Amino acid sequence: MSTEVPRGHGVALVTGGNRGIGLELVRRLAGRGSSVILGSRDPQKGEAAAAELRGEGLQAEMRAVDVADAAGIEALGASLERDPGRLDVLVNNAAIHYDTWQTGVDADVDVVREALETNLLGAWRTAQACLPLLRRSPRARLVNVSSGAGSITGMGGGTPAYSVSKAALNALTRILAAELRNDGVLVNAVCPGWVATDMGGAGGRPVENGAASVMWAVELPDDGPTGGFFRDGRPVDW
Ligand SMILES: NC(=O)c1ccc[n+]([C@@H]2O[C@H](COP(=O)([O-])OP(=O)(O)OC[C@H]3O[C@@H](n4cnc5c(N)ncnc54)[C@H](OP(=O)(O)O)[C@@H]3O)[C@@H](O)[C@H]2O)c1
Repeated sequence: MSTEVPRGHGVALVTGGNRGIGLELVRRLAGRGSSVILGSRDPQKGEAAAAELRGEGLQAEMRAVDVADAAGIEALGASLERDPGRLDVLVNNAAIHYDTWQTGVDADVDVVREALETNLLGAWRTAQACLPLLRRSPRARLVNVSSGAGSITGMGGGTPAYSVSKAALNALTRILAAELRNDGVLVNAVCPGWVATDMGGAGGRPVENGAASVMWAVELPDDGPTGGFFRDGRPVDW
Protein backbone atom coordinates (compact mmCIF):
# COMPACT_ATOMS: atom_id res chain seq x y z
CA MET A 1 0.00 0.00 0.00
CA SER A 2 1.22 3.55 -0.77
CA THR A 3 3.13 5.26 2.04
CA GLU A 4 1.78 8.69 1.09
CA VAL A 5 -0.43 10.37 3.69
CA PRO A 6 -3.89 9.17 2.66
CA ARG A 7 -6.73 11.52 1.77
CA GLY A 8 -10.39 11.15 2.63
CA HIS A 9 -10.84 9.33 5.91
CA GLY A 10 -7.27 8.03 5.93
CA VAL A 11 -6.80 4.27 5.94
CA ALA A 12 -10.00 2.26 6.43
CA LEU A 13 -10.67 -1.45 6.88
CA VAL A 14 -14.11 -2.87 6.14
CA THR A 15 -14.81 -6.48 7.12
CA GLY A 16 -17.19 -8.42 4.87
CA GLY A 17 -16.26 -5.95 2.14
CA ASN A 18 -16.83 -8.29 -0.79
CA ARG A 19 -20.61 -7.89 -1.09
CA GLY A 20 -23.70 -6.17 0.24
CA ILE A 21 -23.40 -3.16 2.50
CA GLY A 22 -19.69 -3.82 3.07
CA LEU A 23 -18.85 -3.55 -0.64
CA GLU A 24 -20.86 -0.33 -0.90
CA LEU A 25 -18.94 1.06 2.09
CA VAL A 26 -15.63 0.24 0.39
CA ARG A 27 -16.91 1.95 -2.77
CA ARG A 28 -17.86 5.10 -0.88
CA LEU A 29 -14.67 5.28 1.13
CA ALA A 30 -12.54 4.77 -1.98
CA GLY A 31 -14.62 7.37 -3.82
CA ARG A 32 -13.73 9.89 -1.12
CA GLY A 33 -10.02 9.26 -1.51
CA SER A 34 -9.46 7.02 1.50
CA SER A 35 -7.02 4.12 1.26
CA VAL A 36 -9.38 1.21 1.67
CA ILE A 37 -8.64 -2.33 2.72
CA LEU A 38 -11.40 -4.61 1.51
CA GLY A 39 -11.58 -7.47 3.99
CA SER A 40 -12.96 -10.70 2.56
CA ARG A 41 -13.01 -14.15 4.13
CA ASP A 42 -12.82 -15.66 0.66
CA PRO A 43 -9.87 -14.06 -1.19
CA GLN A 44 -11.31 -14.99 -4.60
CA LYS A 45 -14.58 -13.22 -3.87
CA GLY A 46 -12.59 -10.31 -2.48
CA GLU A 47 -10.43 -10.04 -5.60
CA ALA A 48 -13.56 -10.14 -7.77
CA ALA A 49 -15.07 -7.29 -5.73
CA ALA A 50 -11.83 -5.27 -5.95
CA ALA A 51 -11.78 -5.85 -9.72
CA GLU A 52 -15.39 -4.62 -9.95
CA LEU A 53 -14.35 -1.43 -8.18
CA ARG A 54 -11.31 -1.00 -10.45
CA GLY A 55 -13.76 -1.16 -13.36
CA GLU A 56 -15.42 1.88 -11.79
CA GLY A 57 -12.09 3.70 -11.48
CA LEU A 58 -11.75 3.00 -7.74
CA GLN A 59 -8.91 1.39 -5.81
CA ALA A 60 -9.20 -0.97 -2.85
CA GLU A 61 -6.66 -3.44 -1.55
CA MET A 62 -8.06 -6.87 -0.80
CA ARG A 63 -6.90 -8.71 2.30
CA ALA A 64 -8.10 -12.10 3.51
CA VAL A 65 -10.04 -11.40 6.70
CA ASP A 66 -12.07 -14.16 8.35
CA VAL A 67 -13.28 -12.62 11.60
CA ALA A 68 -14.09 -16.07 13.02
CA ASP A 69 -10.44 -17.11 12.68
CA ALA A 70 -8.72 -15.89 15.85
CA ALA A 71 -5.17 -16.68 14.68
CA GLY A 72 -5.85 -15.07 11.29
CA ILE A 73 -7.08 -11.86 12.93
CA GLU A 74 -4.03 -11.71 15.19
CA ALA A 75 -1.87 -12.06 12.07
CA LEU A 76 -3.91 -9.34 10.37
CA GLY A 77 -3.07 -6.94 13.19
CA ALA A 78 0.65 -7.63 12.75
CA SER A 79 0.37 -7.32 8.96
CA LEU A 80 -1.42 -3.97 9.22
CA GLU A 81 1.35 -2.75 11.54
CA ARG A 82 3.88 -3.56 8.81
CA ASP A 83 1.82 -2.26 5.90
CA PRO A 84 0.39 0.34 5.80
CA GLY A 85 1.37 0.98 9.45
CA ARG A 86 -1.67 3.15 9.89
CA LEU A 87 -5.41 2.69 10.43
CA ASP A 88 -7.99 5.41 10.95
CA VAL A 89 -11.30 3.64 10.40
CA LEU A 90 -12.47 0.13 11.25
CA VAL A 91 -15.94 -0.90 10.14
CA ASN A 92 -16.97 -4.20 11.74
CA ASN A 93 -19.52 -5.09 9.07
CA ALA A 94 -19.21 -8.88 8.65
CA ALA A 95 -22.14 -10.85 10.05
CA ILE A 96 -24.11 -14.07 9.59
CA HIS A 97 -27.25 -15.94 10.61
CA TYR A 98 -30.27 -13.68 10.35
CA ASP A 99 -32.13 -16.70 11.70
CA THR A 100 -35.73 -16.11 10.68
CA TRP A 101 -36.13 -19.91 10.57
CA GLN A 102 -35.99 -20.43 14.33
CA THR A 103 -37.28 -19.06 17.62
CA GLY A 104 -35.75 -18.76 21.05
CA VAL A 105 -37.71 -21.70 22.46
CA ASP A 106 -36.44 -24.12 19.82
CA ALA A 107 -33.17 -22.45 18.78
CA ASP A 108 -30.23 -24.64 17.81
CA VAL A 109 -27.63 -23.37 20.25
CA ASP A 110 -24.86 -24.31 17.81
CA VAL A 111 -26.31 -21.74 15.41
CA VAL A 112 -26.38 -19.23 18.27
CA ARG A 113 -22.74 -20.03 19.01
CA GLU A 114 -21.78 -19.48 15.37
CA ALA A 115 -23.61 -16.15 15.31
CA LEU A 116 -21.81 -15.02 18.45
CA GLU A 117 -18.45 -16.21 17.07
CA THR A 118 -18.75 -14.00 13.99
CA ASN A 119 -21.09 -11.15 14.93
CA LEU A 120 -19.78 -10.49 18.45
CA LEU A 121 -16.40 -12.14 18.94
CA GLY A 122 -15.34 -11.48 15.34
CA ALA A 123 -15.95 -7.76 15.76
CA TRP A 124 -14.33 -7.84 19.18
CA ARG A 125 -11.11 -9.56 18.15
CA THR A 126 -10.82 -7.43 15.01
CA ALA A 127 -11.16 -4.30 17.14
CA GLN A 128 -8.48 -5.58 19.51
CA ALA A 129 -6.14 -6.39 16.64
CA CYS A 130 -6.61 -2.91 15.15
CA LEU A 131 -6.47 -0.95 18.39
CA PRO A 132 -2.73 -0.24 18.51
CA LEU A 133 -3.03 1.48 15.10
CA LEU A 134 -6.39 3.14 15.83
CA ARG A 135 -5.00 4.62 19.06
CA ARG A 136 -2.20 6.25 17.06
CA SER A 137 -4.59 7.73 14.49
CA PRO A 138 -5.32 11.46 14.70
CA ARG A 139 -9.03 10.77 14.03
CA ALA A 140 -10.01 7.19 14.66
CA ARG A 141 -13.53 5.86 14.10
CA LEU A 142 -14.64 2.37 15.08
CA VAL A 143 -18.06 1.51 13.68
CA ASN A 144 -19.91 -1.65 14.66
CA VAL A 145 -22.61 -2.46 12.12
CA SER A 146 -25.48 -3.52 14.33
CA SER A 147 -29.20 -3.91 13.75
CA GLY A 148 -32.52 -2.77 15.12
CA ALA A 149 -32.94 -6.50 15.85
CA GLY A 150 -30.40 -5.97 18.65
CA SER A 151 -32.47 -3.26 20.33
CA ILE A 152 -33.61 -4.69 23.68
CA THR A 153 -36.30 -2.00 23.95
CA GLY A 154 -37.92 -3.18 20.74
CA MET A 155 -37.11 -6.88 21.11
CA GLY A 156 -39.82 -9.51 20.72
CA GLY A 157 -39.60 -13.15 19.67
CA GLY A 158 -37.75 -14.55 16.68
CA THR A 159 -34.28 -14.33 15.07
CA PRO A 160 -32.78 -15.32 18.44
CA ALA A 161 -29.17 -15.97 17.44
CA TYR A 162 -28.90 -12.78 15.41
CA SER A 163 -30.77 -10.58 17.91
CA VAL A 164 -28.72 -11.75 20.90
CA SER A 165 -25.47 -11.32 18.93
CA LYS A 166 -26.34 -7.75 17.94
CA ALA A 167 -27.53 -6.82 21.46
CA ALA A 168 -24.17 -8.08 22.71
CA LEU A 169 -22.37 -6.13 19.99
CA ASN A 170 -24.19 -3.02 21.22
CA ALA A 171 -22.97 -3.73 24.76
CA LEU A 172 -19.42 -4.11 23.44
CA THR A 173 -19.82 -0.76 21.68
CA ARG A 174 -20.60 0.93 25.01
CA ILE A 175 -17.66 -0.70 26.76
CA LEU A 176 -15.09 0.10 24.04
CA ALA A 177 -16.38 3.65 23.67
CA ALA A 178 -15.90 4.32 27.37
CA GLU A 179 -12.46 2.71 27.43
CA LEU A 180 -11.24 4.53 24.31
CA ARG A 181 -12.74 7.95 24.98
CA ASN A 182 -9.45 9.35 26.25
CA ASP A 183 -7.66 8.03 23.16
CA GLY A 184 -9.98 10.01 20.90
CA VAL A 185 -11.41 6.89 19.23
CA LEU A 186 -15.11 7.40 18.51
CA VAL A 187 -16.93 4.06 18.84
CA ASN A 188 -20.53 3.74 17.72
CA ALA A 189 -23.05 1.09 16.73
CA VAL A 190 -25.04 1.75 13.57
CA CYS A 191 -28.10 0.09 12.08
CA PRO A 192 -28.18 0.34 8.28
CA GLY A 193 -31.96 -0.14 8.21
CA TRP A 194 -33.61 -2.96 6.29
CA VAL A 195 -31.48 -3.26 3.18
CA ALA A 196 -32.01 -5.40 0.06
CA THR A 197 -28.87 -7.57 0.27
CA ASP A 198 -28.37 -11.33 0.42
CA MET A 199 -29.03 -11.07 4.14
CA GLY A 200 -31.91 -8.57 4.03
CA GLY A 201 -33.68 -10.07 1.00
CA ALA A 202 -35.98 -8.37 -1.46
CA GLY A 203 -38.08 -5.41 -0.33
CA GLY A 204 -35.43 -3.65 1.73
CA ARG A 205 -34.07 -0.24 0.84
CA PRO A 206 -31.20 0.18 -1.62
CA VAL A 207 -27.71 -0.72 -0.45
CA GLU A 208 -26.66 2.92 -0.97
CA ASN A 209 -29.04 4.02 1.79
CA GLY A 210 -27.80 1.34 4.17
CA ALA A 211 -24.18 2.30 3.53
CA ALA A 212 -25.00 6.00 4.00
CA SER A 213 -26.35 5.22 7.48
CA VAL A 214 -23.02 3.59 8.36
CA MET A 215 -20.88 6.28 6.69
CA TRP A 216 -22.46 8.85 8.98
CA ALA A 217 -20.54 7.32 11.90
CA VAL A 218 -17.31 7.18 9.86
CA GLU A 219 -17.59 10.85 9.01
CA LEU A 220 -18.33 12.16 12.51
CA PRO A 221 -16.38 15.25 13.50
CA ASP A 222 -13.85 14.92 16.34
CA ASP A 223 -16.40 16.28 18.84
CA GLY A 224 -19.06 13.85 17.58
CA PRO A 225 -20.81 11.28 19.76
CA THR A 226 -19.24 8.08 21.04
CA GLY A 227 -20.93 5.08 22.63
CA GLY A 228 -24.20 5.61 20.74
CA PHE A 229 -26.54 3.53 18.58
CA PHE A 230 -27.73 5.28 15.42
CA ARG A 231 -29.67 4.79 12.21
CA ASP A 232 -29.51 7.49 9.52
CA GLY A 233 -27.75 9.78 12.00
CA ARG A 234 -30.53 9.54 14.58
CA PRO A 235 -30.33 7.69 17.93
CA VAL A 236 -31.96 4.26 18.17
CA ASP A 237 -33.21 2.92 21.52
CA TRP A 238 -30.82 0.33 22.99
N1 LIG B 1 -29.40 -6.26 5.15
C1 LIG B 1 -30.11 -5.82 6.16
O1 LIG B 1 -31.34 -5.61 6.06
C2 LIG B 1 -29.42 -5.51 7.46
C3 LIG B 1 -30.20 -4.95 8.49
C4 LIG B 1 -29.59 -4.64 9.70
C5 LIG B 1 -28.24 -4.88 9.86
N2 LIG B 1 -27.52 -5.44 8.84
C6 LIG B 1 -26.09 -5.67 9.09
O2 LIG B 1 -25.33 -5.07 8.04
C7 LIG B 1 -24.09 -5.79 7.88
C8 LIG B 1 -23.91 -6.17 6.41
O3 LIG B 1 -25.02 -6.98 6.07
P1 LIG B 1 -25.40 -7.33 4.55
O4 LIG B 1 -26.87 -7.17 4.47
O5 LIG B 1 -24.51 -6.61 3.63
O6 LIG B 1 -25.08 -8.91 4.60
P2 LIG B 1 -24.59 -9.91 3.44
O7 LIG B 1 -24.98 -9.41 2.12
O8 LIG B 1 -25.06 -11.25 3.91
O9 LIG B 1 -23.00 -9.82 3.55
C9 LIG B 1 -22.37 -10.30 4.72
C10 LIG B 1 -20.87 -10.12 4.54
O10 LIG B 1 -20.24 -10.60 5.74
C11 LIG B 1 -19.22 -11.51 5.33
N3 LIG B 1 -18.89 -12.48 6.38
C12 LIG B 1 -19.67 -13.39 6.96
N4 LIG B 1 -18.95 -14.12 7.84
C13 LIG B 1 -17.69 -13.64 7.81
C14 LIG B 1 -16.49 -13.95 8.49
N5 LIG B 1 -16.40 -14.95 9.37
N6 LIG B 1 -15.39 -13.22 8.21
C15 LIG B 1 -15.42 -12.22 7.32
N7 LIG B 1 -16.52 -11.88 6.62
C16 LIG B 1 -17.65 -12.59 6.87
C17 LIG B 1 -19.75 -12.16 4.08
O11 LIG B 1 -18.72 -12.81 3.39
P3 LIG B 1 -19.01 -14.06 2.38
O12 LIG B 1 -19.37 -13.45 1.05
O13 LIG B 1 -17.71 -14.81 2.38
O14 LIG B 1 -20.14 -14.85 2.96
C18 LIG B 1 -20.30 -10.94 3.37
O15 LIG B 1 -19.25 -10.20 2.79
C19 LIG B 1 -24.18 -6.98 8.84
O16 LIG B 1 -23.51 -6.65 10.04
C20 LIG B 1 -25.66 -7.12 9.09
O17 LIG B 1 -25.95 -7.77 10.30
C21 LIG B 1 -28.07 -5.76 7.66
